[in-house]
Amino acid sequence: MKTLLSIALAVLCIQAVFGADPHEHSKVVCYWNSTAYERQGPAKFQLDDVRAALSLCTHLVYGYAHINSDFEIVPGSPSLDTGSGYSYYRLATQLKRSFPDLKIYLSVGGNSDPYDEEHKYLVLTETSEGRTKFINSVNRLLNDYDFDGIDLAWQFPTVKPKKQRSTLGSLWHGLKKKLGYGKFHDEKEQEHRDGFTILVRDLKTQLRPRFKALTVTVLPHVNASVYYDVRLLAPNIEAVNLFAFDQKTPERSVKEADFPAPIYSSYGRVVDDSVDAATRYWLENGTPGSKIIVGIPTFARTWKLTADSQISGVPPIVADGPGAPGPHTNEPGLLSYAEICAKLTEHAAGRLRRVGDPSKKYGSYAYQSYNPDTGAEGLWAGYEDPDTAGNKATFVKSKGLGGVAIVDLSLDDFRGVCIGDKYPIIRGAKYKL
Ligand SMILES: *[C@@H]1O[C@H](CO)[C@@H](O)[C@H](O)[C@H]1NC(C)=O
Ligand SMILES: *[C@@H]1O[C@H](CO)[C@@H](O)[C@H](O)[C@H]1NC(C)=O
Repeated sequence: MKTLLSIALAVLCIQAVFGADPHEHSKVVCYWNSTAYERQGPAKFQLDDVRAALSLCTHLVYGYAHINSDFEIVPGSPSLDTGSGYSYYRLATQLKRSFPDLKIYLSVGGNSDPYDEEHKYLVLTETSEGRTKFINSVNRLLNDYDFDGIDLAWQFPTVKPKKQRSTLGSLWHGLKKKLGYGKFHDEKEQEHRDGFTILVRDLKTQLRPRFKALTVTVLPHVNASVYYDVRLLAPNIEAVNLFAFDQKTPERSVKEADFPAPIYSSYGRVVDDSVDAATRYWLENGTPGSKIIVGIPTFARTWKLTADSQISGVPPIVADGPGAPGPHTNEPGLLSYAEICAKLTEHAAGRLRRVGDPSKKYGSYAYQSYNPDTGAEGLWAGYEDPDTAGNKATFVKSKGLGGVAIVDLSLDDFRGVCIGDKYPIIRGAKYKL
């Protein structure tokens, strides 16, 4: 009787400590690509820019840590993260002084860790020695820098893209080497899935008494039904962040531009490739809705349009690889929201024609057709704007999910050049939750 009573008391205490979560269905998890510090000009993203977002965020996720050959977690950019000059890890967690309710997690992986032949993210899960080394190093790092938790954005092998109809297979071949896509066939899927499940369980056992959180991020093109044993994982994680975007990218789909991050699949598209499909998989396998967070990209994916592209602009549309790099982000096939916004509003000849999403299912796009007179190539861009981000938040709310993840802060309009407000994508989502 006495023990029963004390158990009941203990449960009460635990409930009092954790309380009812005021953000059970309205989490705004803000990812911070700290390396965006290295961008030039108006794209350079610094600590003060992060601070300007934090009244809108419930969680800040610092990306990304890496794994070394001893299976230990290590800073991804040592000089920036922990070096004497910047020490962003410490500066990041010190933000809690100004934002006491903010939870700050460190994320590992996130496709920022170079792929290697051995695929360390898989080998690590195979033995208890590997898992223990990783777990101990995570404990140390979280304690040393006072993070509130760890996010595992595990770099599992990705699904191969559908075969291109065209002859550009060889171009794809060159790209996939660089990206690590598809070059690896995992013959021990089951073992890695089970190893990851044990890793999560054992890591949580270590973190629980220290009141540190554990979340999981599912990266684009990882087949969750292969690597995530949802029923066993869900009780041991605070949340799963679904990066259900980049379903179409100019690298994976060289010759065809299409909506990169639709909520629902439409006719003719890959059916299991949408926000709805990704969330359903976790819900149907017993994850409480409040633990499911839907990722919202703050960037556009862009393709070149040529003389072969339909002039209507309607996707799917014939394209020819990544669009030109943005003036500030400087990466082919990608534009930040600030960059796409400038292209929509500028009065110059380069202006894009914008097509919104009255269906609230697929996202916005904008395009400029190939010019047969001058031979100038066109551009097709699929992107999220404040309205479509709001549509995703409305989806989250209607399904009783936990909230949204903004991916990432540095690619939203953090200077407010577009419509005057800083972080319009976060705002568009937050106010619909
Ligand atoms: C972070 O930003 C850097 C600098 O632009 C970029 O090279 C890198 O790909 C970004 N990382 C992620 C995971 O988006
Ligand atoms: C994911 O894996 C399951 C089997 O585990 C398979 O049925 C499904 O086709 C895979 N999805 C993709 C997109 O490859």
